[in-house]
Amino acid sequence: MLVYFSRTPDSSLVDQLKERGWNMTIVRSPADCARQIRLDVPYAGIVDLSRFSARELAALESSLRQPLVGWVALASPDRLDEPDARRLIRSYCFGYLKLPATASTIDYLLGHAFGMVTLGDLDLVAGAASVGDDEMVGTCESMQQLFRTIRKVANTDAAVFIAGESGTGKELTAVAIHERSPRRKEPFVAINCGAIPHHLLQSELFGYERGAFTGANQRKIGRVEAANGGTLFLDEIGDLPLESQASLLRFLQEGKIERLGGRESISVDVRVISATHVDLEGAMRDGRFRADLFHRLCVLRIDEPPLRARGKDIEILAHHVLHKFKTDSARRIRGFAPSAIEAMHKYNWPGNVRELINRVRRAIVMAEGKLIGAEDLDLAQFTQQQSMTLAQAREAAEKRAIEAALLRHRHRLNEAAIDLGISRVTLYRLMGSHGLRDPSASEEKPSEADDSATSGEGKSAAD
Ligand SMILES: Nc1ncnc2c1ncn2[C@@H]1O[C@H](COP(=O)(O)OP(=O)(O)OP(=O)(O)O)[C@@H](O)[C@H]1O
Ligand SMILES: [Mg+2]
Repeated sequence: MLVYFSRTPDSSLVDQLKERGWNMTIVRSPADCARQIRLDVPYAGIVDLSRFSARELAALESSLRQPLVGWVALASPDRLDEPDARRLIRSYCFGYLKLPATASTIDYLLGHAFGMVTLGDLDLVAGAASVGDDEMVGTCESMQQLFRTIRKVANTDAAVFIAGESGTGKELTAVAIHERSPRRKEPFVAINCGAIPHHLLQSELFGYERGAFTGANQRKIGRVEAANGGTLFLDEIGDLPLESQASLLRFLQEGKIERLGGRESISVDVRVISATHVDLEGAMRDGRFRADLFHRLCVLRIDEPPLRARGKDIEILAHHVLHKFKTDSARRIRGFAPSAIEAMHKYNWPGNVRELINRVRRAIVMAEGKLIGAEDLDLAQFTQQQSMTLAQAREAAEKRAIEAALLRHRHRLNEAAIDLGISRVTLYRLMGSHGLRDPSASEEKPSEADDSATSGEGKSAAD
């Protein structure tokens, strides 16, 4: 069963899909959709976002929420720039195609979407709470959606492409997919394409035979072959040089590899998951990434939501990390002060979950009280609330005074030190302890000889 949801359906597409055997229902409006879609049978669905006005998009949401429809979105390139359209696709669709798209591609994706809906178990439909035993924390709508997607995607062998900012959990997602897939007992092999020198990539990926080159004393099995039967995770795929892109594409097309220096071609059965934090669409436009390879890799796409868009989950994750690492501190830390909670919500989290983990772990070690405050997370400027101890207040004032003096004297240490009433050596040391030393600056460390003052007290900055 197929539902085609479009304000103005494309009759040639209708004909072509019918020819391919789809039993099609056409709906033109959300009301139409509610009336005509049965709730007890699975459907594949096309939603043509290009045939609705920008204003109508919001109203589509209730229709797209139908649990037994595996939606595939069609969208014009312009539409894909609109946040509303992107959100609908991300939240409700199994995949999307940029128009113009051929009927055969649409048919292919619909087949997958339909397969997935029929494979899905009922708790998938009901929206289960979390991925399960491993520690992937998330309660917000976008994370719940991610968990549902992981479950759906795990049931297929189709290539999955995971996009997301650094530290959002791309690798965790790849592992979660593998662990829920029928391949879970077979190997999960990850390769970070960005971390391996280009000239070694081919042999890392595909292996080599003895004598393939000087130094090849024995046969080496490549990562692709090592993943046979299981899942191959190609991390930082955007960093793959063009040469390796070509060989990878050949492998994906033929399902066979040749070891370097070898003659036989070896069949390898792997499920491929790839990830990147760079803009691959941009790389394709610039000719740094092959579009044909991208389409092979990105049959199914997962977008990891950035941490700043996860609302209450930020706090939940922070508590999760605190609970996990609180034994790192001799002190008993009970939780987070209101200032910390406020700051965590205001901060932008460019490093996402990884940064949150690091900040909380550092705070566990640094915190002097029973509650972690915004300043322990080094996020004091993101809160209005003052919950500092006197020692912390002194320290903050000291740091501000030093910064101001350095600014006034354009980083000339001698003058700044005189202004602050301390020696140059003391100033240098204090800059170090306040994290004000620029590691790239070639400023010479002052000799110990002129260390006359030992106190770190300076007069506070006038402005
Ligand atoms: N939802 C989550 N719940 C708990 N921990 C998480 C979650 N998402 C990510 N993490 C943790 O955050 C860290 C970063 O995750 P991961 O390595 O998967 O990110 P990534 O997207 O691959 O990052 P990068 O682009 O930097 O490689 C890991 O320690 C991971 O365990
Ligand atoms: Mg990663």
